[in-house]
Amino acid sequence: MSQTLVDNIKALEQSASTLDPNAEERNDATQSLQRYADAFLSRLDENKSFIQDGYQDEALSNTDFSQASNIEEVLHLLEQHMELPGINTASGGHLGYIPGGGLYAAAMGDYIADVTNKYAGVFYASPGAVRIENALIEWTGKMVGYKQGFGGNLTSGGSIANLVAVTTARDAKGIKAINFHRTVIYTTLQAHHCVDKAIIIAGLRECVIRKVALDDCYRMDVIALEQQIKEDRQAGLLPFMVIANAGSTDVGAIDPLHAISKVAKEQDVWMHVDGAYGGYFVMLNEQKQKMKGIELADSVVLDPHKGMFLPYGTGIVLVKQLHHLQNAFAYEANYMQDTEGVASGISPADVSPELSKHFRGMRMWLPLKLYGEQAFKDCLQEKLLLTQYFTEKIKELGFEVVCEPELSVVAYRYVPEMGDANEFNKTLLEKMHEDGEIFISSTNLNGTYVLRFACLSFRTHLSHVDRLIGMLERHLKELLR
Ligand SMILES: Cc1ncc(COP(=O)(O)O)c(C=O)c1O
Repeated sequence: MSQTLVDNIKALEQSASTLDPNAEERNDATQSLQRYADAFLSRLDENKSFIQDGYQDEALSNTDFSQASNIEEVLHLLEQHMELPGINTASGGHLGYIPGGGLYAAAMGDYIADVTNKYAGVFYASPGAVRIENALIEWTGKMVGYKQGFGGNLTSGGSIANLVAVTTARDAKGIKAINFHRTVIYTTLQAHHCVDKAIIIAGLRECVIRKVALDDCYRMDVIALEQQIKEDRQAGLLPFMVIANAGSTDVGAIDPLHAISKVAKEQDVWMHVDGAYGGYFVMLNEQKQKMKGIELADSVVLDPHKGMFLPYGTGIVLVKQLHHLQNAFAYEANYMQDTEGVASGISPADVSPELSKHFRGMRMWLPLKLYGEQAFKDCLQEKLLLTQYFTEKIKELGFEVVCEPELSVVAYRYVPEMGDANEFNKTLLEKMHEDGEIFISSTNLNGTYVLRFACLSFRTHLSHVDRLIGMLERHLKELLR
């Protein structure tokens, strides 16, 4: 062996080891990072919740990767160009769309997950990591009301979780390409658009999609559902799947899940519930009653990055009968032969499209373990009461509420005595966005422009809601002047 080869390897080893800092270097970097995180968190309430400036800022698009940088410089770059523009999603003033979370303990969980870099895809590779993920599936499944024999997977979010559910349903019901054009999926106009995407990605674009009628509060009309299924069957079509909401994005509507489950059972269609937004409210007794029937669904989606206040990137799909999930996703490969036959743990890779994946369970397991379930229940309950408070206050200001909120989303608008109500509310939202102190968003309900209040950030408290009410009052007065 030539000495040159060994010398070259050693030289490269020295340079490559920059990627693996020693204890002192790690300590310095961690301290810088800690200072940055603390400063960011302490600025949260001073900073606006929405900043419209900065969309033209190209500094990060043109990042120079050719040279190494110092961590303080890098953090400064982020502070200047990443942190501020757009929605301040970590702030309690984020009351638009469906707010995500960002628990500090979840960041600590990610830190552990990333430093240990445990391979959470396959039980053989890390029984501990996989047991952590499976314990979370078990906990969530039992909370929903599943008993035994169910399975699930931690996904990157609600969209992929819905995709996994639709794919599982397709295979469980034996839907074949030759019949796609006769196969019917029932959903409503309140379904999140990711459900439509999931149907397309699962190859079911050619299926007949029925948007079942809604009642006055945007919930699926079960009589219309049943009638439509019967008519479709008589017409030679193949009713396959009904997709219901446990908290719609637009207005927070909960479909009549129990009644839907009866129809689904009688008509032999797969029942799926999208609880990406509302699912974790099932932890609370009153909301569990409202969602009665969710436990009878064949599959359910929940988003811990919404209802469990985790940072973006964590959804859950549950399937009532594990074997359906395995039928859709389990595969074998020659090079994986050593991993087979290791008993007592379901491998996430056998119940999802992913093989290598982030050990995302750690960011949920750690906060739950550190704080316990009750803290999460109280936080969700607080959001419901804040929603009630907000609803009462805006009615006093003269706003019209589309429906009494079932969860923590309120759709509302102001109807001026003169002029177009849609234009008025649109202008009001523009003023709110220019102001930016608290962030809200809007939606369109059958051509009616409405404002939305979506309260789900663990950092949203009474003071934020009061600030929002103050802003609405201020801008409303200005517009009415
Ligand atoms: C009801 C509902 N379903 C699905 C989704 C999509 O989830 P994600 O953004 O996690 O992919 C959302 C997102 O807001 C939602 O509210």
